[in-house]
Amino acid sequence: MRAAVIPRYGSPDVVQIGDVSKPAPAAGEVLIRVHATTVNRTDDGELRPGILGRLFFGLTRPRRTIFGLDVAGVVEAVGADVIALKPGDRVFGMCPHQGNGAQAEYVCVPESGPIALMPAGLGFADAVVCEGAYYADSGLKKFDVGPGHKILIYGASGAIGSSAVQLAKARGAEVTAVVATRHLELARSLGADRVIDYTAEDFSRLGERFDFVFEAVGKTSYLRCRRLLKPKGRFMATDAGPWGQYLPLLLWSAIARNDRVVVPLPPRGGGHAFVAFLKTRMEAGQFRAVVDRTYPLDAIADAYRYVAAGQKAGIVVIEVVADDPLEAAQAR
Ligand SMILES: NC(=O)c1ccc[n+]([C@@H]2O[C@H](COP(=O)([O-])OP(=O)(O)OC[C@H]3O[C@@H](n4cnc5c(N)ncnc54)[C@H](OP(=O)(O)O)[C@@H]3O)[C@@H](O)[C@H]2O)c1
Repeated sequence: MRAAVIPRYGSPDVVQIGDVSKPAPAAGEVLIRVHATTVNRTDDGELRPGILGRLFFGLTRPRRTIFGLDVAGVVEAVGADVIALKPGDRVFGMCPHQGNGAQAEYVCVPESGPIALMPAGLGFADAVVCEGAYYADSGLKKFDVGPGHKILIYGASGAIGSSAVQLAKARGAEVTAVVATRHLELARSLGADRVIDYTAEDFSRLGERFDFVFEAVGKTSYLRCRRLLKPKGRFMATDAGPWGQYLPLLLWSAIARNDRVVVPLPPRGGGHAFVAFLKTRMEAGQFRAVVDRTYPLDAIADAYRYVAAGQKAGIVVIEVVADDPLEAAQAR
């Protein structure tokens, strides 16, 4: 099969399209013919990890040679003991990090893993949206964000931020989204009650207090956001922040057991339930993918370059099989 192979760490220039063996599903696994996947910030981080990342991804070279966490496609074959899924089923979700990913024509995923049947009426390219949404949902869920809560989402145009806006709205919270001028309309269209242009005004001087500040892009500071928090307000971040400044705060928060500063890591084993939950939100019209650009598999190195620039809005899709409009219409 054809795949984007990453034999060593480096710039997007190391990503090569090559022929590799097609995987076979083990017991409990399904073989998916991949129609769409993404290049996201996790893939970008895995391509050129720092010292800490290398402990996780492989010390001298990547432990796995095919990346790609988000997947949407059609089940081609099933291994022994697979109960609920069968060949021909349209599925979407995420590939567990232990094995190869979905930037290839085929991938194997455990049936009990983070996959579910595709939301009705959706094309594959609009379904490869789970990873960013999973991080967004983990934070909202941890603090049971809901009606009566006010949340400010900083960096609401990214994969995590654009998901957080929609999921927080679906939970009934009042959402303030902070984005650049070019993303104001996007943030409004996702349901934000109020949008702030960070290039035109100082979001930290709104003169308002929030129950939660969700720093979804790792670009501001806790000190700037602190004055926006109510006395028992929480600050959530999706990475270590500029110069790793959120790390000591996380440690302090953990030692003091006050949950003031948290990185909302998804719960272990929670992926299957999450993808099923996201399917219901998408079918209810409460969640949609924000697709910035689409690249064919052959041009995936360009997709890596674009994602590394940190400018994407929502997701960058890799179309492995061109979406057939007729098939998508029939799926409705
Ligand atoms: N996506 C994932 O699956 C994932 C998983 C785990 C952790 N993370 C981490 O979480 C962070 C966010 O990931 P992501 O994928 O959501 O990011 P992303 O999609 O790459 O975010 C890019 C967006 O952030 C905006 N942005 C850039 N600089 C900004 C600034 N100074 N203030 C506000 N917005 C700014 C950009 O628009 P403008 O430049 O026009 O403002 C762009 O729309 C990253 O640090 C990533 O490593 C991501």
